[in-house]
Amino acid sequence: MTGRLNERIAIITGAGSGIGRATAQRFAREGARLVLADVNAQALAETVASLEIAPERVRSMTADVSREDQVKALVDEAVAAFGRLDIMCNNAGVSSSREPATEQDGEEWRRVLDVNLLGVVFGMKHAGRVMAAQRSGAIVNTASVAGIRAGAGGNPYSASKAAVINATMTAACDLGEFGVRVNAVCPGLTETGMTKPIFDYARDLGKEHKLGSRCELRRFGRPEELASAILFLASDDASYVTGQALAVDGGNTASLNLPGMKV
Ligand SMILES: NC(=O)c1ccc[n+]([C@@H]2O[C@H](COP(=O)([O-])OP(=O)(O)OC[C@H]3O[C@@H](n4cnc5c(N)ncnc54)[C@H](O)[C@@H]3O)[C@@H](O)[C@H]2O)c1
Repeated sequence: MTGRLNERIAIITGAGSGIGRATAQRFAREGARLVLADVNAQALAETVASLEIAPERVRSMTADVSREDQVKALVDEAVAAFGRLDIMCNNAGVSSSREPATEQDGEEWRRVLDVNLLGVVFGMKHAGRVMAAQRSGAIVNTASVAGIRAGAGGNPYSASKAAVINATMTAACDLGEFGVRVNAVCPGLTETGMTKPIFDYARDLGKEHKLGSRCELRRFGRPEELASAILFLASDDASYVTGQALAVDGGNTASLNLPGMKV
């Protein structure tokens, strides 16, 4: 087996759907050994069945990333099964409600921060410990354009993703001296399970062409395009890249998107 991740050991959370599934499929083709996790056991099994990989090269675990004990168990499983951990993709996430600032609900904030922020924090903590001891490793967190600009998600979601970007930078500072890189990808609108309601709604109205039309590339993203960016940051091609948040968004956050400026 040869590929850009030849014999690397990689954990991917949120692997049951969307960007996580596409990343698992790409990593498998690039020669990695995988430990895949999702809170949805059925979806996770479907991802495993879709992989072009020998069965002994993949493990799967139902895990809730908001639970530190379950994240630690995931890291322990990777080390027990394959002897080391080279790549940690903290990708699991949930969307939030979109109430205005005057109507925020504390329970909703805690639900979203527990998964989107603490899930990443726990992943960096336990993978980072193993990687620091190894003196090598790459962590890739999935943030969002919603963490860079307002208007791409509900308030708790956007704040959680902004926090992921900052937590990525601070962890990169903590882990750099041990040869461990920490980066984030910031997807723009991408068709996945999370965004299915948006796509269904637009298609029902015959307005699918409008989705992504405010991006400079005039289209929305595909999960495979996010997987390519995650692969880059996880691989030796990014050997001198750490503490960065890479927007993979068709140029959306590069632009002020002034009304009337696009045809
Ligand atoms: N799709 C987009 O347009 C978009 C844009 C920006 C960022 N993102 C981010 O990309 C990441 C992947 O999302 P996606 O778009 O592929 O959505 P998705 O819903 O298709 O996949 C997310 C997966 O995470 C799992 N998950 C949810 N909560 C979990 C938990 N507590 N523990 C473990 N697994 C859990 C879900 O079961 C699901 O399989 C998320 O962090 C999301 O915020 C997506």
